Amino acid sequence: MSKRELHFGLMFWAGGTHPSGWRYPSSHAGAAFDIEFLQHVTQLAEAAKFDFLFLGDRLASDPALQTTNPSQMSRLEPFVSGASLAAATSHIGIVVTANPTYYDPYNLARMFASLDHLSEGRASWNLVTGADAIAAGNFSRDAHWDTERRYDWADEFVAVVRGLWDSDAVTPLRHKGRYFDVAGPLNIRRPPQGHPVILHAGTSDRSRELGARDADVIFAGQATIESAKAYYADVKSRASKYGRTDSDIAILPGLTPVVAETTAKAVEIYDHLNSFVALDPEGDGGGAGRYGSMGGMGKRRNLTAVSAVIGVDIAGQDRDGPSIPSCWQRPMRRGNDCSRISRVSPGVT
Ligand SMILES: Cc1cc2nc3c(=O)[nH]c(=O)nc-3n(C[C@H](O)[C@H](O)[C@H](O)COP(=O)(O)O)c2cc1C
Repeated sequence: MSKRELHFGLMFWAGGTHPSGWRYPSSHAGAAFDIEFLQHVTQLAEAAKFDFLFLGDRLASDPALQTTNPSQMSRLEPFVSGASLAAATSHIGIVVTANPTYYDPYNLARMFASLDHLSEGRASWNLVTGADAIAAGNFSRDAHWDTERRYDWADEFVAVVRGLWDSDAVTPLRHKGRYFDVAGPLNIRRPPQGHPVILHAGTSDRSRELGARDADVIFAGQATIESAKAYYADVKSRASKYGRTDSDIAILPGLTPVVAETTAKAVEIYDHLNSFVALDPEGDGGGAGRYGSMGGMGKRRNLTAVSAVIGVDIAGQDRDGPSIPSCWQRPMRRGNDCSRISRVSPGVT
């Protein structure tokens, strides 16, 4: 029987993944910019035999994140942090999030090859096509591309990056495609891993296809066991089309543990965290009470956070009026001010 192993990664967001983690009395409020702290966390994860430290990233600082994911408002650039983490550790994988929509394949192939060399084969690319529509405004674009365009671009982008990694500073690539015209070779020796590990995180049909074809690891953010099983079976069933087998792809679900000596103490911590969540003013979401605690006491709401999950700006809508298509179905629909909300997915929150 083949030996199977559990894989663990640590997704680092400075204030944790709970929206009010940064307000917890013992939290380190300046953690996002404290590289020694980040190195220390990575060393702890390495000592605990974790496979990788995951640096998520966003390419905009959306004011709406203040109420939904405050610890994702700002952080150090992940390639620069990743290089410093590689220098402070010796075994753990370093996952850097990079969104091809706003990169050029030559630059990105070179940066990952460099990180792979200086970490001696521990670099990994978390390939995402982007959670922030407003990122477009930071890259001289009129609008965030729709899903089809982002994945058409990403599909060809990955092929070019892989071609450049294989070019080994000698063999020209001569790629001429729909979006890219890249001569190559890459001006760097082949990465120690050959192709650094590719992680992928997304939810759409196109994301599943990209994952089945190109990902070594898929970071899944499904909310229930049933949807997670369906997602797993669906992605794995697509792999054979690309000459791959089930075992070529590891699917890792996201989990936010609250750890304490007893369940009661863990619940206490969770309730304490929830008590710090910023809520809408009285009267906007219901009567007084704490935010959705384990004890089920919560009545007041944070409508910005709900809007970010469902894709409809309900904070600015007549809640008894006609239904409005979600921003995630058709970006920038009239009647739904999509510019005010940022997409979140379970794994990101
Ligand atoms: C577990 C998980 C982690 C993610 N991490 C990031 C991230 O760090 N940065 C980012 O821009 N998007 C991140 N995303 C969002 C993806 O970029 C993606 O756009 C989003 O999930 C929508 O899926 P789609 O691209 O298939 O439409 C993440 C998604 C998931 C499920």
